[in-house]
Amino acid sequence: MFAESAGLRRVKPSATAAASTKARALRAAGRDIISLDAGEPDFDTPDHIKEAAIKAIRDGKTKYTDVDGIPELKAAICAKFKRENGLAYTPAQINVSPGGKPVIFNAMMASLNPGDEVIIPTPYWVSYPDMVLIAGGEPKFVATRAEQGFKVRPAELEAAITPRTRWLILNSPSNPSGAAYAAAELKAVADVLLRHPHVWVLTDDMYEHLVFGDFAFRTIAQVEPALYERTLTMNGVSKAYAMTGWRIGYAGGPAPLIGAMRKVMSQSTSNPSSISQWAAVEALNGPQDFIRPNALMFEERRDLVVSMLNQARGLSCPTPEGAFYVYPSCAGLIGKIAPTGQAIADDRAFADALLESEGVSVVFGEAFGLSPFFRISYATSTELLEDACARIQRFCGAVN
Ligand SMILES: Cc1ncc(COP(=O)(O)O)c(C=O)c1O
Repeated sequence: MFAESAGLRRVKPSATAAASTKARALRAAGRDIISLDAGEPDFDTPDHIKEAAIKAIRDGKTKYTDVDGIPELKAAICAKFKRENGLAYTPAQINVSPGGKPVIFNAMMASLNPGDEVIIPTPYWVSYPDMVLIAGGEPKFVATRAEQGFKVRPAELEAAITPRTRWLILNSPSNPSGAAYAAAELKAVADVLLRHPHVWVLTDDMYEHLVFGDFAFRTIAQVEPALYERTLTMNGVSKAYAMTGWRIGYAGGPAPLIGAMRKVMSQSTSNPSSISQWAAVEALNGPQDFIRPNALMFEERRDLVVSMLNQARGLSCPTPEGAFYVYPSCAGLIGKIAPTGQAIADDRAFADALLESEGVSVVFGEAFGLSPFFRISYATSTELLEDACARIQRFCGAVN
């Protein structure tokens, strides 16, 4: 009989993937389902990027490459970090992996010893704790509050640091809350880390380009250069360039860490797809003019969703600075009964009852480590969002 390894038994499968699968199954069974659970832009990869990939195939760029990225892509990434973040990295300080997710995974595999602790503010992107567990580490959670815009408070961060702390994982703008740290907020976090030189920081900047209004994106090594030597600045082409399926993520950091990550890749995935790497070169070096209009479109959708959710009885939805998610509280409905007769004991029951009653698929907050909330991805059309939010309002109005 097959038995999972003891290490893997500590790990749970991705809750967001499970929500998407459930919604797809209901749709296949004929139900009218609106999925607000997807974590990807609803528009296509721009044509000039597709053309670069087609050219790469025609030019025979179809062989193994250097394990952690072709020189042309590393050069494009160095230029991007300089241009957009004011960070100077050399190619020896760059890692390219098959997606942003493997960048983080490789960093954890490369650095954690059994029992090493990784501080993860909640709500967190679902994969962080489980990647830490796979690598033999121990996730240590620091809860944030909606009233503080879901940002970690420096005193609480400092209280969570122990001699075993290896990393802090920061994610701004955040999946699932959309919260983004302003420069002063990053500086306050950095000041804590400066007092604890053994703690490194992995900053997940995947949603850098999706910030709204006059919010100015900053990354921690830019705000506090003294942390540069112990920061892994991670990013990727998935969200900004609508390239989730191409699987290219990257990071800049100290060369010894980058070398260790390369060693992990050399004995596991080897290089990311050569064709995707050439597409990513074009994404980073080519025209960037479509990014801002996309962000503006997401901003309009955010405003629509926040406003409609705040009109739903029992819900309360903060206005986030970025990404394409909102993280409303359903505290006002806990302990009540859904129109289907289901008891709403927690946010998982709320999401189940909403799907059952109105066919709207969201992801419950417990999956992101902070309850009672739920995550909505608004990376879908305005019409569908209006319909979904009207259904949520109807559902909440019928709960008693
Ligand atoms: C915060 C965050 N980091 C990393 C990733 C992973 O991105 P990729 O699809 O490039 O692996 C995601 C994707 O959902 C994300 O939301």
